[in-house]
Amino acid sequence: MGGAAGPDLVAAVANAGGLGILPIWPDTPEAAKASIEHTQKRTTKAFAVNLRSDLEQTALIETAANAGVRLFNLFWGSPAKSMPAIEACDGRLIATIGDLASAKEAVDLGAAALIAQGVEAGGHVLGETLRDELLAQVVSESFGVPIIAAGGLATASDVSHVLSLGADAALFGTRFVVAQESIAHPEYKNAIISAPSGATVRTTCFDGFWPNAPHRVIRNSTFQVWDEAGQPSEGHRPGEGDPILTFPNGSSFPRYFVATPSIGMSGDIEASAMYAGEGLGEIQQVQPAAEIIAELVEGL
Ligand SMILES: Cc1cc2nc3c(=O)[nH]c(=O)nc-3n(C[C@H](O)[C@H](O)[C@H](O)COP(=O)(O)O)c2cc1C
Repeated sequence: MGGAAGPDLVAAVANAGGLGILPIWPDTPEAAKASIEHTQKRTTKAFAVNLRSDLEQTALIETAANAGVRLFNLFWGSPAKSMPAIEACDGRLIATIGDLASAKEAVDLGAAALIAQGVEAGGHVLGETLRDELLAQVVSESFGVPIIAAGGLATASDVSHVLSLGADAALFGTRFVVAQESIAHPEYKNAIISAPSGATVRTTCFDGFWPNAPHRVIRNSTFQVWDEAGQPSEGHRPGEGDPILTFPNGSSFPRYFVATPSIGMSGDIEASAMYAGEGLGEIQQVQPAAEIIAELVEGL
């Protein structure tokens, strides 16, 4: 989770027995190396890195491989162009898919596991299929690789539910945005904790830097004003030039920008892209990652 899962969260999840996933796709190779090494200083356990299928990411794959990473989670389209680099380092592909055709393609390419991401998921969501429907479709194919259910999960009973449908594992995003070790901005964490079920929307509203890419966010003031205006296109949107987020280095980004608010950013946090999944109504408090995992496991 770009903007939420930094080295501390990924290491805390790994140390507690989960598989942490470190997003490096927006990084330079130098920054990715530093982020991976930072994670490795905090855990000796394996973790995965997250990359985009639609971008040329070979240099990042090589950087991660040289640092000892072997698990590559790719999302957003066909992972075909990254497979040679993953195979060259004897890596394993964990492909995020949102429909059955993409699942088949990933398995044909040699995926070692699939993350079946339902439309309920927070963040960028390519597929439009409900999680349980997608899970049923993928499980019935008996691909012979682990199937990891994702989207709208928040509690131990959610884990039991997806396991009962044939999933081998469950993936949580939003629940860990509010982990103590997450780098999400405290106001964003509070927004998740205080939001009721039904507070999210899948939209293309926050498209600055990444256009035409549907994502699920909390319905906030930016979404509401844009929606009331009839969801106009770029150049015609209300408040388009308003500076909303200021990064620690002083650079400022306008309304509709893709970045989620992280620690160290300032500005109108409420008006920025606060990614969250449909399970947010069940998420009640900021907790250490290890406590979240213990709760999820003990409640099974
Ligand atoms: C803040 C945030 C950022 C995300 N960023 C990424 C990302 O960079 N790469 C990715 O593969 N998925 C990303 N996702 C999607 C998650 O990987 C996952 O599919 C989703 O969070 C699962 O749904 P849930 O949030 O309802 O648990 C993000 C999700 C959130 C909430």
